Amino acid sequence: MEGIEGAGKTTQVRMVSERLRARGIDVVATFEPGGTEIGKRIREILLDKSLQQMSPLTELLLYNAARVQHMVEVISIALDRHTVVITDRFTDSTLAYQCYGRGLQERLIMDIDKIATGGIRPDMTVLLDLPPNIGLGRNKDANKTDRFEVEPLAFHEKVRAGFLELANSEPARFKVINATADTAVVTEEIVAAIEERLQCR
Ligand code: TMP
Repeated sequence: MEGIEGAGKTTQVRMVSERLRARGIDVVATFEPGGTEIGKRIREILLDKSLQQMSPLTELLLYNAARVQHMVEVISIALDRHTVVITDRFTDSTLAYQCYGRGLQERLIMDIDKIATGGIRPDMTVLLDLPPNIGLGRNKDANKTDRFEVEPLAFHEKVRAGFLELANSEPARFKVINATADTAVVTEEIVAAIEERLQCR
């Protein structure tokens, strides 16, 4: 599940997981950075808005350090058991934020990603798309301000455009959903998209 700040990813991961479990599908719902104890500690550093001096490369390596641990402790184990994994953010977030947002080279990001994930890619990616002013407004209402949320609107516009470009370049993997719609409507659209993919198998 991917998208910019305030897109509703966390809520949708929870709702969609519940819907799939109700149909008897074994689901592990998780998130990055932070799906492990070590990931949570790394997340604290990454989101600390007093650490404005963090270089983009440090940022990239920390996200990948959290991802390695997430792969080892959660994702690989679940996939080995043939369990469906729904993760709130993964490699596409690194491309959108660290490449399109921060300006790091895509090649560098993907080389490091290969080391971190062993080349594991999502079968399906849902992009919850909405204008950044709406997403950031939602988070402000929820009193959520971290190192990314204090970035100017222009940064978030670049990240959104990045996500949309990624979705355009891989239409078979991505499903883009309008995240300004009601929560329940968004859930229905995601569940329908997943069902469609499962029937294609
Ligand atoms: P969250 O608030 O959606 O949990 O995500 C934490 C922040 O981390 C969010 O601003 C996006 C950012 N992020 C990256 O910049 N690169 C990444 O690879 C990931 C996973 C998240």
